[in-house]
Amino acid sequence: MVTGGARAVARCDMLGVAPYSDMEGGLYRAYLTPAYAAAQGRLSEWMEAAGMTVRRDAAANLIGRYEGTDATAPALLIGSHLDSVRDAGRYDGPLGIMLGVEAIDALHQADKRLPFPIEVIAFGDEEGSRFPAAMLTSRAVAGTLSPDALDLSDSDGVALQDAGVDTSTYLSAVRAPGTTLAYLEAHIEQGPVLEAKGLAIGTVTGIAAQLRFAAIVTGQANHAGTTTMGLRRDAMTGAAEMMLAIERIARDDASDLVATVGRVEALPGAPNVIPGEVRFTIDVRSGDEARRNRAAQAILVALEGIASTRHLSLSLNQIHDLPASPCDPALMDLMDAAIADTGQPPFRLVSGAGHDAMVMAALCPTAMLFIRCKDGISHNPAEHVDPADVDIALQAIMGFIENLGENFVGA
Ligand code: GLV
Ligand code: MN
Ligand code: MN
Repeated sequence: MVTGGARAVARCDMLGVAPYSDMEGGLYRAYLTPAYAAAQGRLSEWMEAAGMTVRRDAAANLIGRYEGTDATAPALLIGSHLDSVRDAGRYDGPLGIMLGVEAIDALHQADKRLPFPIEVIAFGDEEGSRFPAAMLTSRAVAGTLSPDALDLSDSDGVALQDAGVDTSTYLSAVRAPGTTLAYLEAHIEQGPVLEAKGLAIGTVTGIAAQLRFAAIVTGQANHAGTTTMGLRRDAMTGAAEMMLAIERIARDDASDLVATVGRVEALPGAPNVIPGEVRFTIDVRSGDEARRNRAAQAILVALEGIASTRHLSLSLNQIHDLPASPCDPALMDLMDAAIADTGQPPFRLVSGAGHDAMVMAALCPTAMLFIRCKDGISHNPAEHVDPADVDIALQAIMGFIENLGENFVGA
């Protein structure tokens, strides 16, 4: 017999290859690509088979709804994201959606209705791997996106407006006040803590604050054979020194502060040309927002110093700012109780990774459940989760829904 946990894992595996991936020999599913549309098509069939009515909102999120006993009651949302990083693992995002579908399927099979509707939501742009922004679609749902944030183009110059959504109606994806009871997201831990503790699942206490910048270093492109070393304005070596400074600032902090340069592009990109322009991203995170901001300021000062010494120009554009997001204390208690009912010891941990939950916290109380992943590896095709752990997670989600139903006080 295939259990719900095993089926959730198998479905993520199914979505890990073409036509649900835009990349040969691996997984890359970015927002609004053919692979994204194909994955939504498949997910929509699974949602319907589990007893949900399905719609796509103005931000191209896919939403399945399972009615409760009172259609006017605010809905519990269960969700995560369908998009991925480049050369991704298969479970970061989709697993939380598949677990939502499995939970509804189990309720549907048992002909059970809660006092509130449940909606499973598949967000589209958590990773920010296509457009220079992230969590666009959950920000649209939470009502924290401004219209000018939609003026975006991907690296091929395709504007968001031409990518399959209408930016003039995009913000209508916002949920109306009073229609959302809570948001629950299950996710692989993407870190080593649960594995080290020998635990299958844990309750998340909150998510670290994030800041992201796009940096452009400009020097002078010139001939690699004729320009003597002292006369160069090499954007590449300047950027390299900047990256080492970023690493040093984060290391010297010796806290939970982390800083990453994850994407670099050197132009014009030829072996015999001194690079005239280098573009790179900077991602800075800490559970403590003030610490994150102090580090970002120190990075800014260091980078400006390096640019000035090397006669380069530097432009730093902030593309992302998400505050630290604590999970709801009452929902954490309900999750701990649900975990205890599975026979596992309740355990709490913080999330260094970002999740749509940190955006949804502006709209409603949020809860997150982490699932152990092998060697703590994520954002890597080697990402692995044990179906037996996912089964335990599904039991905990079912218990959480039941606990929420028992504690629900109608409007
Ligand atoms: C999402 O995976 C993030 O933490 O950047
Ligand atoms: Mn991710
Ligand atoms: Mn994720």
